[in-house]
Amino acid sequence: RVSVAVGDFVPLLVLGVPPIWTQPEQVHLSYPGVPGSMAVTWTTFNKTESKVEYGLLGGRLFEMSAKGGTTLFVDSGEEKRELYIHRVTLTGLKPAATYVYHCGSDEGWSDVFLFTALNDSTSFSPRFALYGDLGNENPQSLARLQKETQLGMYDVILHIGTLHTDRNITTICTDNARIGDEFMRQIQSIAAYVPYMTCPGNHEATYNFSNYRNRFSMPGQTESLWYSWNLGSAHIISISTEVYFYLEFGLDLLFKQYEWLTKDLEEANKPENRAVRPWIITMGHRPMYCSDDDQDDCTKFDSYVRLGRNDTKPPAPGLEDLFYRYGVDLELWAHEHTYERLWPVYGDKVYNGSKDQPYVNPKAPVHIITGSAGCRERTDRFNPNPKDWSAFRSTDYGYTRMQLVNATHLYLEQVSDDQYGKVIDSIWVVKDKHGFSAWF
Ligand SMILES: *[C@@H]1O[C@H](CO)[C@@H](O)[C@H](O)[C@H]1NC(C)=O
Ligand SMILES: *[C@@H]1O[C@H](CO)[C@@H](O)[C@H](O)[C@H]1NC(C)=O
Ligand SMILES: *[C@@H]1O[C@H](CO)[C@@H](O)[C@H](O)[C@H]1NC(C)=O
Ligand SMILES: *[C@@H]1O[C@H](CO)[C@@H](O)[C@H](O)[C@H]1NC(C)=O
Ligand SMILES: *[C@@H]1O[C@H](CO)[C@@H](O)[C@H](O)[C@H]1NC(C)=O
Ligand SMILES: *[C@@H]1O[C@H](CO)[C@@H](O)[C@H](O)[C@H]1NC(C)=O
Ligand SMILES: *[C@@H]1O[C@H](CO)[C@@H](O)[C@H](O)[C@H]1NC(C)=O
Repeated sequence: RVSVAVGDFVPLLVLGVPPIWTQPEQVHLSYPGVPGSMAVTWTTFNKTESKVEYGLLGGRLFEMSAKGGTTLFVDSGEEKRELYIHRVTLTGLKPAATYVYHCGSDEGWSDVFLFTALNDSTSFSPRFALYGDLGNENPQSLARLQKETQLGMYDVILHIGTLHTDRNITTICTDNARIGDEFMRQIQSIAAYVPYMTCPGNHEATYNFSNYRNRFSMPGQTESLWYSWNLGSAHIISISTEVYFYLEFGLDLLFKQYEWLTKDLEEANKPENRAVRPWIITMGHRPMYCSDDDQDDCTKFDSYVRLGRNDTKPPAPGLEDLFYRYGVDLELWAHEHTYERLWPVYGDKVYNGSKDQPYVNPKAPVHIITGSAGCRERTDRFNPNPKDWSAFRSTDYGYTRMQLVNATHLYLEQVSDDQYGKVIDSIWVVKDKHGFSAWF
């Protein structure tokens, strides 16, 4: 047939299949960990070249261009859908300069976006938004985050796992990964403007995290599962807590990560490294502590992530001792669909800096759980009798802002979306000293 009636397109649109299969979509940025660089990742449904054309804001549009590579990702669902994932790394960017870009190929270009290359100075004070459990069915905080990101309020977004949080019905893989496509399209309005740094959550587990591993481009050689990078005065470590739960994908992954973590923390703690990047911040999906009223790992005294597992051969070490030993300052978690701030805690005991100023020279790591960005299930309920370490709790939808001000001062605040952007909690963590010796 030559003529194309409108009706011919309707079923295509209903199925969510883009009519032009060479058209880039799901554009997102990540920081490869090398100063002056930025990675651009996107998807097409037919094989095309992978190009980014870019230029300084205010300069000649698209005066530079960079090429990258394409990988074919075949979803493991029934339809074996094929997605082409494009990755281009821009290098030699001017620190703190703003660039305009689009991506694609001569068979189709994305919209035009802009981003600011990260300032690589160790005295830079980066601003973050952080959250987990943002789903595509009730992404309550999304609009506010979109606007704030586009206004330039954040240098980086930390997405602490679980892209789609409808616990038992859908995951990133549902409907032959179309839900994953939908989610990635939705976050483009944030992730195409600032580096969007992730860690895997339980919802990404299907088919051995293949959707997660294929769709993101985090630093390191672990398909985005665990990695670390530096910004300002911080060393930031992203881990997979899921290796403690999905043993069917390989117990060796748990040990590999542990070994890597030990080495990474050892390196970050070398006096010459810790002197310039005193803050060590970790992010992982499932918390070691929480006071929610559900059956999750953290509600039990012996959380796997915290204390390890002894039902494996060999027994699997937990992370609390490791993080304590290497003086991790701040641990960011999600998974529980709530916000909870803890007093400095180690071994289930509170170690305040002092009674009046618990976060001034705290004697143990500070934990924040921020998993209430918005999802289908509403937020979780709290246990009415929390332990001593629970300092502040909220079931409002929202997200966390963090500013790493300098070597001694770090600021955190919780934004309630239910209360139209009101800041409902805030703390300053102040540390004159970092590392294991800071605990005494
Ligand atoms: C484009 O992709 C669609 C969907 O995967 C496929 O059916 C079609 O054969 C592809 N066309 C080309 C030219 O590769
Ligand atoms: C990077 O941040 C530092 C510290 O705030 C500042 O002094 C410097 O001017 C910034 N660099 C650029 C290129 O803006
Ligand atoms: C999802 O899980 C909840 C709680 O376990 C259950 O009540 C609900 O029926 C489940 N929904 C579906 C569609 O399986
Ligand atoms: C799951 O994926 C990881 C990372 O690619 C790989 O090392 C592991 O062998 C996979 N496990 C299985 C059971 O395929
Ligand atoms: C093994 O771990 C469980 C809970 O994680 C704990 O109750 C039990 O005491 C441990 N057993 C040994 C022998 O350490
Ligand atoms: C820690 O500090 C907070 C705030 O001052 C206080 O409410 C709490 O009781 C302290 N906990 C301990 C164990 O000292
Ligand atoms: C670090 O930041 C805090 C809070 O803004 C400020 O009071 C302090 O003087 C700063 N320290 C240095 C060394 O600049």
